[in-house]
Order: sequence, then structure tokens, then C-alpha cells
Amino acid sequence: MNEYVPGLEGVPATKSNISFIDGEKGILSYRGYPIEMLAERSTFEETALLLLDGDLPTRAKLKAFDQDMRANRQVKFRIRELMRQLPPAGHPMDMLQSMMACLGMDHSGAECLTGGDHCNDVNFVHNTSVTIIAHMATMVTMWEHIRNGYDPIEPRTDLTHAENFLWMLTGKEPDRYIARIMDICLILHAEHTINASTFAVLVAGSTLASPYSVIASGIATLSGPLHGGANQAVVHMLEEIGTPEKAAAYIDAQLKAKKKIWGFGHREYNVKDPRAVILEHLMRKFADYKEGKVGPLFEIAQAVEKAATDRLGAKGIYPNVDFYSGVLYREMGIAPDQFPSLFAMSRVAGWLAHWKEQLGQNRIFRPTQVYTGEVDREYVPLERRG
Ligand code: COA
Repeated sequence: MNEYVPGLEGVPATKSNISFIDGEKGILSYRGYPIEMLAERSTFEETALLLLDGDLPTRAKLKAFDQDMRANRQVKFRIRELMRQLPPAGHPMDMLQSMMACLGMDHSGAECLTGGDHCNDVNFVHNTSVTIIAHMATMVTMWEHIRNGYDPIEPRTDLTHAENFLWMLTGKEPDRYIARIMDICLILHAEHTINASTFAVLVAGSTLASPYSVIASGIATLSGPLHGGANQAVVHMLEEIGTPEKAAAYIDAQLKAKKKIWGFGHREYNVKDPRAVILEHLMRKFADYKEGKVGPLFEIAQAVEKAATDRLGAKGIYPNVDFYSGVLYREMGIAPDQFPSLFAMSRVAGWLAHWKEQLGQNRIFRPTQVYTGEVDREYVPLERRG
């Protein structure tokens, strides 16, 4: 029982009925619905509610949730003023983490969270989830304008979550086809069992911390290049490669230098990530919609996939979710350092579902460690230490 497993690989840290992965068959499902089915038939709003509540919502429940989300898009001026004080060159994930914690200062009520089966305020949990999901999209786009020296674009209530996000980001009337692609991207990133950021959310949540601080922990953990920051790194890698012909030599050089190929490999999958399959397909549809008028990144990505899979496939290393999402977002004109924020504003639905689930079975996380330090050392006074 005290065996140390680096990275807790294969160690169950919770029980959950939110999502399921079969890494050999390339299966991902949310609440029992395969991701392919949700990508084809659901919306982000419906998927978020499915994750939070456990079942596909009735028409009335979905309508109420959608209306609540629309009504919660406005971010108070204090957050906007705080954002204006942040260094414009700072990373959007640092902004998001800080602003999420600040948002909590304006929303009290976490004292009702006492854990256990019977003592949680369902309305607080639901309303907070709506506020956080709706606010995050607004905060991501506010920062894009503020860091560039402009005033943020006000949210609208006549648009879906994905449409409104594109509106607030660009100030242009959203193209419905592109907005649907964005909607599917949000569905695909919304949940993925107990990965590093979800685990961070569970650990913070287990202390009954404010949900805003809990989500700030998730954002911080997602920001690293081994997790949600990889989509940004993928695009830098593809730009560095420059042309499809240079892909194989680049991969060889990286592997020789024992460096990772960004957007490849996954602790859970030994096959191509099912989300990468859908994202590649979406990228193709996007290129068709644009009548082929897209940049070279997709072609370079495909050459990289072939070269890397030829060399790493035998080890079960294939494209993960971050490989094609970055290419797609770049083609949509989104700044690469915002890609992890897009991941976060979608994954927040899954984080909140896990937070909610844990409140009903809460026990504070307190693992143990294998001590490898010295014992019984003599305290040498400072003047005798040389
Ligand atoms: N490129 C090259 N080799 C890779 C690799 C990659 N992207 N991912 C894993 N490997 C290799 C490792 O070098 C290691 O090889 P070795 O056994 O010969 O030493 C082996 O596969 C196991 O890698 P490890 O990092 O221990 O696997 P993990 O399960 O701990 O890590 C990731 C999973 C996702 C962190 C890892 O695959 C990675 O760093 N990928 C790149 C970053 C990325 O895309 N992250 C987004 C994840 S959604």
C-alpha cells in the first residue's frame, strides 16, 4: 500500500461517474455518451449541463440554464479595472487564474459548503457554476482587448455561448458555421476524467475552499506545457518547422535530442486521442468552408503526424487533443497564447462537475510520502559552521 508510484500513474484517487476513457480502444464518453455523439448532436451549453447534473437536460432545464448563462455574461467593472493594471505581456492563463480568484472576492457563500451527502446548498453550487462558466468566456476576451490597449467588447444575450465568445473576441457578427466549429471544440475540451488540473481541483475542493479558488487551482495546473499549454507549443513547433518537407528531419532531430514532440503522447491513450480525430476532421471542414484558403499549418501538422507516428507509434505515442486544436484556433485568427485559455473556459465545465461530485463524498486529500531525508542531525550553531 505504501509503494510510491511517480506521477500516481494508475493509482485511483477518486470514484467518479462523470467521464470514461478506454485508452486502448480510443474511447472517451461523458456521462455514458460517446464524445463523437456529443460533438455531432450536442451543444456546449447542453454538454456542460450534462456534466454538471448527470443527465441530458429536459428542454425546460436547458432553456433555463441557457438563459442563466446569457444573464451572467457581464463581468463587473472592478475586474475590468484590475485587468487594466496587469502587465500586457503577461500570459493569459496568469490573468485568468488571478481574475478567477478576484472574482471570488465578490461572490461570497462558500461557507455553505460543508461536505458530505446532505449539507450542500444545491442552488449555490448551481448558480456558482453558471457564473464561473459564463464569466470565464468574457474574461478571456476582455483580456485580449485590454492587453492590446482597447476597451473590451460587451457581451450579447442574443447569441449562444460559442457565438458570443467569437463576438466578444472579434467584434464581428459571428459566422454561424465557424461558431458551430468553436462550439464543438468547447464540447471536446469540456471534460477528461482525473487529469492533472482536475486532480488539482479535487485537492483544492476537498479543503472546502471557495469554488473560485478551486477553479483558479485548475487554471494554474492546466497552464503548463505538459498539460493545457501544449496546444500553444504545437503551433510554435509547426511554425518553426515551416514546411511539410522539413517535418521528418525536425522530428528526428527532436527525438535525437531526447525532446518531446508537442501534442503527442498521453498517459491514458495508446492510440490516437479520439478528440484529435474529431479536431482533424473539423480542421478539414474549416479548410473546405474557406475554399482551401488557409495557411500552411495544417499540411505541416499532417506531415508531422506521419513522421512522428512512424517513429513513436510503436510506443503508443499518437496525436493528443492539443495537436490539431492549436492549428484550428490559429486558422480562426486566435492568438496562440490564448489557446490554453480556450481550453480552460471549456474544461471549467468538467472541473465544476468534479467539484460538485466531490462535495457529496468529500474527504480532504492528504496522501503520504516516502521520506528520503536525513534523521537525528546535530544542530551546529551558526558561528561553528564556517
Ligand atoms: N514526444 C516524444 N516522446 C514522448 C512523448 C512525446 N510527445 N511523449 C512521451 N514520450 C516518450 C518519453 O520520452 C518516454 O520515453 P522513454 O520511455 O524512452 O523514456 C515515454 O514516451 C513515456 O513518456 P512519459 O513522459 O513518461 O509519459 P507520461 O505518461 O508521463 O506523459 C505526457 C504524458 C502527455 C506528459 C507526455 O506524453 C508529453 O509530455 N507529451 C507532450 C506534451 C503534450 O502534448 N501534452 C498534452 C497532453 S494532452
